[in-house]
Amino acid sequence: MAEERQIEGKTLLVTGGAGFIGSNFIHYMLKRYPGCRIINLDKLTYAGNLDNLKDIEDSPRYEFIHGNIRDKSLVQEVFKRVQGVVHLAAETHVDRSIQDAGEFVLTDVYGSFVLFEALRNSKVEFFLHVSTDEVYGSRDEGFFKEDAPLCPSSPYAASKAGADRLAYSYFVTYGMPIIIIRPSNNFGPFQYPEKFIPLFVTNALEGKNLPLYGKGTNVRDWLYVEDNCRAIDIVLRKGKKGESYNIGANNEVQNRTVAERIVDLLEKPRSLIKFVTDRLGHDKRYALDCGKIRSLGWKPEKNFDEALALTVRWYQGNMDWWRKIKEKSESFKSFYEQYYRKRK
Ligand code: NAD
Ligand code: DAU
Repeated sequence: MAEERQIEGKTLLVTGGAGFIGSNFIHYMLKRYPGCRIINLDKLTYAGNLDNLKDIEDSPRYEFIHGNIRDKSLVQEVFKRVQGVVHLAAETHVDRSIQDAGEFVLTDVYGSFVLFEALRNSKVEFFLHVSTDEVYGSRDEGFFKEDAPLCPSSPYAASKAGADRLAYSYFVTYGMPIIIIRPSNNFGPFQYPEKFIPLFVTNALEGKNLPLYGKGTNVRDWLYVEDNCRAIDIVLRKGKKGESYNIGANNEVQNRTVAERIVDLLEKPRSLIKFVTDRLGHDKRYALDCGKIRSLGWKPEKNFDEALALTVRWYQGNMDWWRKIKEKSESFKSFYEQYYRKRK
């Protein structure tokens, strides 16, 4: 095995660091590596939230830059100051991509292109591109290995697949030091409450209905965000350039079961769960073979029930965090209400 990459003492650029995984990852890295510095480049879209990083905003090892990954000159300047990049910035919500795919193509594909081009003209030593398990598409049984063909079904997944293969092309064509990861569904603290688990937890806490798409039999492999951060760290240190790594927890659960566990944990009535019209093109099941990342020494530490209970407790204990988002964001409100009304 090749020598491990050093993270301690380096400056990393994290794109999209004010989002869900990004903010968890920044916390994780600053704690794990006392000599590591982080620059967070984030556009602060509706999903970006500096409240997620309040406790570290004055740290001398952390810097926030408010900017767009599509801004070539800004990105080139920032690349001069870092040794490594973890690229998370993206439009991420499948339902929004079904309503309007434009920003997904512009940020997830074109924005990634701007970063890859900046990489070519820089001395950056490693670049970790965060893709998703959705690039493979859905399958009823069996598991996708990293060399499976990509067959994305939503505009979000297709944009991510475009960026994923563009990343690979920059490795093959220009020898760029890019590594790709494809994580499954993350959940945990600081997840924007339009996504399934935080939406259901916060709606249940508010006594509102929980809109379960279709028959609620779709399956996701739930990965606790802290386990994903540990996986990113291991891939940064031990991952091989040009390779892709699946990251999943082998926690396959039907949506209906997740919804029931949430209301049970909160001691709310199951009658809050309402079956609504299905998502267009709704992928049935995502499932990953994670032998490759496990061979680097990673495995998830939290089982689903334990991690879900922790997550529910976090949303119970941080009502101000999510209430502010739900109250303040007209885009969230109108999106949710408009979408749900159509589904009733
Ligand atoms: P998120 O929506 O919570 O956060 C995205 C962040 O990117 C926000 O802070 C937003 O302001 C920022 N951003 C968006 N467009 C930008 C732009 N043009 N320039 C700079 N910043 C911009 O997303 P997340 O759930 O934390 O996901 C992070 C990454 O991980 C994404 O690439 C996503 O595709 C991938 N991913 C997420 C999951 C998951 O379950 N959440 C699973 C697999 C992969
Ligand atoms: O698999 C990784 C992906 O997981 C990430 O790449 C995406 O960024 C992330 O958004 C997520 O995509 P999903 O579509 O799987 O996640 P979402 O939280 O939107 O939905 C999870 C499941 O719950 C899915 O089967 C749809 C269902 N659902 C979702 C919502 C928002 C409902 O039944 N009702 C809802 O209101």
